[in-house]
Amino acid sequence: MCGIFGYFGKKENAGEIVFHGLRRLDYRGYDSWGIGMLDGDSIVVTKQAGKIPQTITSLPTSSIAIGHTRWATHGGVTKNNAHPHFATDHSFILAQNGIVENYQSLKQKLQKKGYAFSTETDTEVIVRLIEDKNKRANNFIDAVRTAFHDLTGRNTIVLLTKDGTVIGARNGSPLVLGIGKSKGELFLSSDILSFAPYVEKTVVLENQQIVEITNNKFRIISINTGKQEKYRTEKNTISNTRVDKDGFDHFMLKEIYESPFVIEQIYNQDARMLKQLALKIKHAKHVYAIGSGTAGAAAAQIAYYLRIYGSMHAVSLIGAEASDYYHLFTKDDVIIAPSQSGETADVLEALEHARSKKTKIASLVNMPGSMITRMSDYPFMSMAGPEICVMSTKIFVSQIAWGYLLAKTVQGNYSEGKRNLQSLARVMSDYLHSKNVLTQIKSLADRLKQSKHIFLLGKAQNLQIVKEGMVKLVEGSYIHAHALPAGDLKHYAITLMEPGVSVIVVISNDEVKEDVLNAVNEVNARGASVIGISPANHERFTFHLQVSDLGETSAILTILPLQLLAYYLAVALGNNVDKPRNIAKSVTVK
Ligand code: G6P
Repeated sequence: MCGIFGYFGKKENAGEIVFHGLRRLDYRGYDSWGIGMLDGDSIVVTKQAGKIPQTITSLPTSSIAIGHTRWATHGGVTKNNAHPHFATDHSFILAQNGIVENYQSLKQKLQKKGYAFSTETDTEVIVRLIEDKNKRANNFIDAVRTAFHDLTGRNTIVLLTKDGTVIGARNGSPLVLGIGKSKGELFLSSDILSFAPYVEKTVVLENQQIVEITNNKFRIISINTGKQEKYRTEKNTISNTRVDKDGFDHFMLKEIYESPFVIEQIYNQDARMLKQLALKIKHAKHVYAIGSGTAGAAAAQIAYYLRIYGSMHAVSLIGAEASDYYHLFTKDDVIIAPSQSGETADVLEALEHARSKKTKIASLVNMPGSMITRMSDYPFMSMAGPEICVMSTKIFVSQIAWGYLLAKTVQGNYSEGKRNLQSLARVMSDYLHSKNVLTQIKSLADRLKQSKHIFLLGKAQNLQIVKEGMVKLVEGSYIHAHALPAGDLKHYAITLMEPGVSVIVVISNDEVKEDVLNAVNEVNARGASVIGISPANHERFTFHLQVSDLGETSAILTILPLQLLAYYLAVALGNNVDKPRNIAKSVTVK
């Protein structure tokens, strides 16, 4: 959710370097963008509403620049609201990732003091506040530091002064410093991946820290005390990570095809920490699995597996709705947080409360160096490689496969769980390479592309699968979809069943199969058409997508046809597959 990038170096094309950094960060927001460069002893800013273009020309020669890619929160998507924003006297520019929650009261105070505002953003409040603090501060860093004392919310900034100093400050949203492979080059960014090929070492800023870069040197200062702080440099281990489509038309399709690999990455991990966590869970009173969006569906599936195989009192919470549980967290509970980015603000807030109660935290994160990983007692990594498509696919697979293995470990059957995942990875690979499967799913996408509504029904192991399928369909096709428990259909949604309505039903060969088939009959009796995803065909299905019967891991396989359907629908409708409208991959604001 908004990406920030800074470059301080010897090369003369700082603007271009920042531009390419922003292109790699645009999964965080892509409604507008801007770059500010030092040009002699003044600052020039280029900004635009709309997506970042493929290429850029005519930027001034500069060796210091900062930039921003925006996901609008306060103020419309306009060139004027795009960051960076200038100080009144043009002595510095600033870009923010986050939200100033008290921006209205601060703005009123500053307006009373005579400060003028030219945008609708909360970010301009930070700019004016720093200007105001600078009138009394001993030095500029103190002005930035003390401005942060007045801000509420999560706000991380990058700032460039006209004397060539770059400042980054972290309060909540991520900020990483990269120490370049070429001497004298320093990078600042919301994530490591965006500068990975160019840096040798990284320093992940902690919350409440400022980094000041001047004359090719940097120092880290505490926002609270103003004192210089020690920091830990880490070797950049992802410098060779390739980010390309490998011949696929879109990242989404490539990432769906990586599902067997991400499962291997889970079962090949050293089992020791998993066994330690399983032991902790066995002695826990409650387990709360928490996540947002797709990770919320994964959290619910993890909780399901822990109830079924681990016999644990496990519930799932949606990040944005977890606060009514905060007072129930105790030191005898365990929280499990699956998260692609490791930076989701709603989840972080819940984890902060959990920590204050000494609740143990386990997480499964994909991005290295994240806040959630740093807060965890049991920090697991998906190691699935970068997920670039804003719609999450392979990470969902990774998260639920991990949850299954964890639950089997709690049950005392780690080896059986691992064997089942090994078979699953093989079956998934065959499934993805079946021409027949792809032809069928493409033709289904063609049938469904005119739909106004799509319903999805599932039960037990497949309930969260249909919920996540719904998320994918909505994100990819912009068609309204509604997923519900098969058994709940008769209580309300049955009113909407009539000819022309399509209902996707996921069924496994398990003990609830007959219950789901009852729902199929109810749908069929009212003339709606049923698309069955199951091992066996059924006379009431209008369309059948066959999947293998994999027993306990059936549900993990079944997400693939739903992800592929969302993909081919998005393609058939001409939508932006890898960047659906209005959503961002990493949501670092509440
Ligand atoms: C956003 C993304 C979702 C993602 C959710 C949680 O809403 O669009 O795809 O599931 O954030 O992100 P996380 O990084 O915690 O998995």
